[in-house]
Amino acid sequence: MALKKLVAGNWKMHGLSSDLAEIKAIADASGAYPGVDVALCVPAILIERASRAVPGFAIGGQDVHFAEKGAHTGCVSAQMLLDAGAVLTIVGHSERRDAQRESDAEVKSKAEAALSCGLQVILCIGESLEVREAGNAVETVIAQLAASLPAQSGGRLSVAYEPIWAIGTGKVPTVEEIGEMHAAIRRKLEDAFGQEGGDVRILYGGSVKASNAGEIFAVPDVDGALVGGASLKAADFIPIVGAAAESRPVEGARAIA
Ligand code: PGA
Repeated sequence: MALKKLVAGNWKMHGLSSDLAEIKAIADASGAYPGVDVALCVPAILIERASRAVPGFAIGGQDVHFAEKGAHTGCVSAQMLLDAGAVLTIVGHSERRDAQRESDAEVKSKAEAALSCGLQVILCIGESLEVREAGNAVETVIAQLAASLPAQSGGRLSVAYEPIWAIGTGKVPTVEEIGEMHAAIRRKLEDAFGQEGGDVRILYGGSVKASNAGEIFAVPDVDGALVGGASLKAADFIPIVGAAAESRPVEGARAIA
């Protein structure tokens, strides 16, 4: 059965109080698409205000620390995200793997900490342009997935395949390349989790916009999208949600908690 699609926005380091109206516009317009799960991952400091502004709409964080609490200056725990009103978090985004030097083992610990608190998790993986051009994209991404995957999916895990060279560049892999990668990710998830691996949503991320979303959502094993730049404005983001709603029937499909 097709999984219910998840379209999650990653606001990265964008968002002030004055943007709460845009968050509200996105939440309101998403209400017209009950067949799609929609979420916005906002800066940690905006989570509480955003979740109060749009009750019932899924607000998430963009990172989480693996420890429950302690001497970790500047970091945010899973319990803190939940306490602020988040229902999900991204872990292992390539911008953090790169700039904050996050290892696969650390990403795995973060995913486990978030899942054990009851958060949904979007675990990001993806290859560099050098790896893609060398023809090693699938094996590299699957090795990264194997090393970052939490011990259990907890029924709340999504994986986002985000080729680094496609993020914020306007470049997108071909639908064949996306299909090949998502099929390999699905096989790995089924290896790791058995039947539950079939229920883990696999999102595509990297320059998703209204004009390419329909084509991407039609690829088998694409169960949604992680959207950066095009998630900042309702006018850009909602047509992507609409494309997800049109892409496949979702009767009886699993919903975001
Ligand atoms: P983009 O970012 O949609 O702006 O390419 C995607 C992401 O980094 O999650």
